[in-house]
Amino acid sequence: VKTKTSIPFARPTIGDSEKQAVLEVLDGDVLTHGPQNKAFEQEFSAFMGGSAHAVTTSSCMAALHLACWQLGFGPGDEVLVPAQTHTATVHAVELVGAKPVFVDCNEQDGNMDVSVLRKKISPKTRGLIVVHFLGIPCPMDEVMQIADKHSLRVIEDCALAVGTYHQDKHAGLWGDAGCFSFYPAKHITTGEGGMFVTKHKDLAEKVTKVRGFGVDRKFEERKIPGIYDVPQLGLNYRMSEINAAIGRKQIERLPEILATRKRNFSRLKAQILSILGVHVPDIHFNHGKSSHYCLSAILPEKIRSHRNDLVLELNASGIGTSVYYPQPVPRMTYYRNKYGYEAAHYPIAELISDASIALPVGPHLGEAEIDEIAGTFKEVVERHL
Ligand SMILES: Cc1ncc(COP(=O)(O)O)c(C=O)c1O
Repeated sequence: VKTKTSIPFARPTIGDSEKQAVLEVLDGDVLTHGPQNKAFEQEFSAFMGGSAHAVTTSSCMAALHLACWQLGFGPGDEVLVPAQTHTATVHAVELVGAKPVFVDCNEQDGNMDVSVLRKKISPKTRGLIVVHFLGIPCPMDEVMQIADKHSLRVIEDCALAVGTYHQDKHAGLWGDAGCFSFYPAKHITTGEGGMFVTKHKDLAEKVTKVRGFGVDRKFEERKIPGIYDVPQLGLNYRMSEINAAIGRKQIERLPEILATRKRNFSRLKAQILSILGVHVPDIHFNHGKSSHYCLSAILPEKIRSHRNDLVLELNASGIGTSVYYPQPVPRMTYYRNKYGYEAAHYPIAELISDASIALPVGPHLGEAEIDEIAGTFKEVVERHL
């Protein structure tokens, strides 16, 4: 992620061990279908507590698409999705021909509002995708109760949720499937990449096959080279050995990365909340852990319409920022054209998109940078108040 600011919003933590691992793969003969992917899957599952079946993918979007497809969502089905998320969450539903039904979020933590979710269930609802907003856990016990009652399949979009727990269970293990992202700005990166995880062994096996063209046997199971059959449709959503080798080294850094993010988030939050009228979505019940992806500051009411000016002023002062997410997905042109849009149905998603600024807390920052971000943010906000 390149930015001109002196404190970028994100910077991948790539060291000598990642570089060495890549060189070792390049020095060998196996660039795909190899041991790095298998080891990365096992090590990621171990990080989550050991019970997950993990399948590497080329991105989180790929994992979400595979999940929607293999859980059987299709034409005539409705799938509940948060209005406040990355467009990938919703594209996955559209790609399999099902209809996304948007649910607004709550202001405390930015996650899907469970009371709205209940009201949007119809006889056509087949499933739902929850997104752990900025790594803040959704109340999965409540979500699963609703899902069980209505026989809904549950996908967890864990793009920002490496290290997120609800109670003592890692995100992605509550529902039928969890989808992770290793895009450069994320907790760990493989360049581009993702992970599909599930507690269902048979689902992991199905996904492994359709991830590689729907071929009936693995590379190492082909007795005669080049001979295989294809009993079903498939895609190529595999991860290369080069990316997987980077991911394995990144997992080793995870405990330290998560600890630094937590420290940075707490230090920044304490200072940001001292500005009157600013709200920071965060975990608001005691049954879990956030992965502290970033700190999203919702501006005081009086200056909400100044948000973009504030962003430009922060950037001009060297502070990298972002917006999570830039529009409620149903307001994006594709979805607005297809389904129409009524802003009044998504007041909190609108508020987050139009009046928040995301500030960095990543491991590229120490106490001095966090204090600089807080000081500059305070100065810029108070100038407008
Ligand atoms: C919630 C969410 N889902 C999915 C994605 C897409 O991830 P990827 O770029 O790995 O496809 C993102 C990317 O930021 C995201 O924030």
